[in-house]
Amino acid sequence: MNFKQEIQKRRTFGIISHPDAGKTTLTEKLLLFGGAIQEAGAVKSNKIKKGATSDFMEIERQRGISVATSVLAFYYKDKKINILDTPGHKDFAEDTFRTLTAVDSVIVVIDVAKGVEEQTEKLVEVCRMRNIPMIVFINKLDREGKDAFDLMDEVEQKLGLQVSPLSFPIGMGYDFKGIYNIYEQNILLFQGESKQHIEDTISIEDINSPELEELIGEKDAQELREHLELIEGVYPPFDREAYLAGTQQPVFFGSALNNFGVRELLNCFVDIAPTPRSKKAEERLVAADEKQMTGFVFKIHANMDPKHRDRLAFVKIVSGTFERNKPYLHVRLGKSLKFSSPNAFFAEKKAIIDQSFPGDIVGLHDTGNFKIGDTLTEGEELHYKGIPSFSPEHFRYINNADPMKAKQLAKGIDQLMDEGVAQLFTLELNGRKVIGTVGALQYEVIQYRLEHEYGAKCTYENFPVYKACWVAPQAQPTEEYQEFLRVKQKFLAKDKRGQLVFLADSAFSLQMTQQKYPTVQLHFTSEFD
Ligand code: G4P
Repeated sequence: MNFKQEIQKRRTFGIISHPDAGKTTLTEKLLLFGGAIQEAGAVKSNKIKKGATSDFMEIERQRGISVATSVLAFYYKDKKINILDTPGHKDFAEDTFRTLTAVDSVIVVIDVAKGVEEQTEKLVEVCRMRNIPMIVFINKLDREGKDAFDLMDEVEQKLGLQVSPLSFPIGMGYDFKGIYNIYEQNILLFQGESKQHIEDTISIEDINSPELEELIGEKDAQELREHLELIEGVYPPFDREAYLAGTQQPVFFGSALNNFGVRELLNCFVDIAPTPRSKKAEERLVAADEKQMTGFVFKIHANMDPKHRDRLAFVKIVSGTFERNKPYLHVRLGKSLKFSSPNAFFAEKKAIIDQSFPGDIVGLHDTGNFKIGDTLTEGEELHYKGIPSFSPEHFRYINNADPMKAKQLAKGIDQLMDEGVAQLFTLELNGRKVIGTVGALQYEVIQYRLEHEYGAKCTYENFPVYKACWVAPQAQPTEEYQEFLRVKQKFLAKDKRGQLVFLADSAFSLQMTQQKYPTVQLHFTSEFD
């Protein structure tokens, strides 16, 4: 198979949802169809159970599973499908944001009864900003839920999407009869008693034929016709170009648990989902079919075994063929590196591979060379964009609790920050270190890992910050800028990359600062032009 065919074969995507909407169940059912796993229950949910905040075993379990499920690859209809795992728990949202820089499309899972939930809104917003193609899967149709039209309205309004239904439910909950597949123009009937059994679809050439009455009864047939008419009048027809451009989102209905509507989703997905897309670097746009290998690190995972210090850096191949034992330029370090045992991931195992293609993820053993966002090339000075840091929600001073272990603590903090566990800010005034996280759970993870992996002990102290804002540097600092630096010195810090950050202690003080120093540009993410 030639290089271009390898690219055409690949579909790399992520499933996003609010916890409990059914992401794990859907993943599992997709893998079953791909023959990648043999039985239900093989995919472990990596969600953190409620009330587990202090349960370190739970954190470790979660980390272990999160390595195992980071990338799940399988073949379906001759396509290589890579599912990138995105943690649903909000304390790990940043991990998910970073993973979204490595997907070519996403499937959004929504619970039919709960509708659009908070975490879905945040994640979809990130996808929308990047024009990532999205398919919406409305799950748990076997349960009583919201009206399908109301739900699509909610999706459009809350998520800012433009939907085009490609399937539609016949009845719901107790009266759920099945699904009319608009994309394939056939009917899938739900067999309540044999829930795990996958039924064959029944083709319906003409929705107006009396055959429909025979299948689902007069009342439902009439209702379905009316619904389809309404859909035709209200929603735009499916337009693949619009989907690929991120301006239209097809919607499917089903029940992941009952394996219902999942095959239809997958069939459509392999038909319409994008092959590996071009990616913007600071210097230029890189196309997947370029011959030279380029890729970037979007995730780093520490070894679970504290005796082995090495880590696994997850690299998304953007262009070219990645080869084992071939030297590549680590652009940030200006260093040439070779990898003798790059890993590829499959649903049930990882294996050493000789070659990888655009869209694939390779896991590279790392002894501390990599940070999230690093670029690998065949020599070109290229920096991939799009892994910004957002302002953390929580801020705490981190103090050394064991003076004999200062070095271990510094090293531990350094490496955990490289992994993207949290963000580190060093205050300009006194050099004190402040850790910023998305969720409170992260502090316990850090404390636990510092102790168990680096032999260091830390304590935290509250540091009230409302928001971290990145300060745009000025080549020739104006007087106003210099005054800002002087007056606000107490609130200034450097982030891990040495960028200046203003830590506003309240919404009011942020507003006042913006008013007083209008030429000082404050940004809410670490990447700005
Ligand atoms: P997540 O990864 O998005 O957090 O969700 P997950 O798949 O773990 O599903 C959350 C719960 O919803 C699970 O039940 C799962 O069985 C259920 N579920 C998923 N799909 C469907 C569906 O189509 N219909 C119905 N009725 N339920 C569905 P649980 O009781 O929390 O967990 P478990 O004990 O069943 O694993």
